[in-house]
Amino acid sequence: MHVETTINGEPAEFLCEPGQTLLSALRDELGLTGTKEGCGSGDCGACSIEVDSRVVCSCLMLAGEAAGKSINTIEGIADVSGRLHPLQRAFVEEAALQCGICTPGFLVAAKNLLERNAEPTETEIRYWLAGNLCRCTGYDKIIRAVQKAAAEIRAARVT
Ligand code: FES
Ligand code: FES
Repeated sequence: MHVETTINGEPAEFLCEPGQTLLSALRDELGLTGTKEGCGSGDCGACSIEVDSRVVCSCLMLAGEAAGKSINTIEGIADVSGRLHPLQRAFVEEAALQCGICTPGFLVAAKNLLERNAEPTETEIRYWLAGNLCRCTGYDKIIRAVQKAAAEIRAARVT
């Protein structure tokens, strides 16, 4: 199949098999290996991407379904100059990652949350990220990192 789509704001096209997942196409056809495979069955959130502004497990979506959609992956989270997103900086500063397999998925999901809700409560963050599993960090550092990034983004808006 020939698929035309938009990835991280740029037109993109690729060839894929009819049964190939979008996760596989991103990694194997487009070289966007920032999106990770954990479980491969929709349980861990490591493969999270945005599709038309909704967080989706790319391991559960067929690559052919990307046609005409707007897709954002972890590769598009930093700004065009390469400056890290506040969430990326906060994850580093709060030591919110260890092995890193879950990290791109958390970052994509957390970015989506902060674009919907600039001042989420801890409960709202935990609820939103409930589909993202981490077997290393214990979650508290991840929540602190999201809170820190949210505060930084809010502060940047008022200055
Ligand atoms: S790899 Fe897709 S949800 Fe785990
Ligand atoms: S940092 Fe290892 S699974 Fe989250």
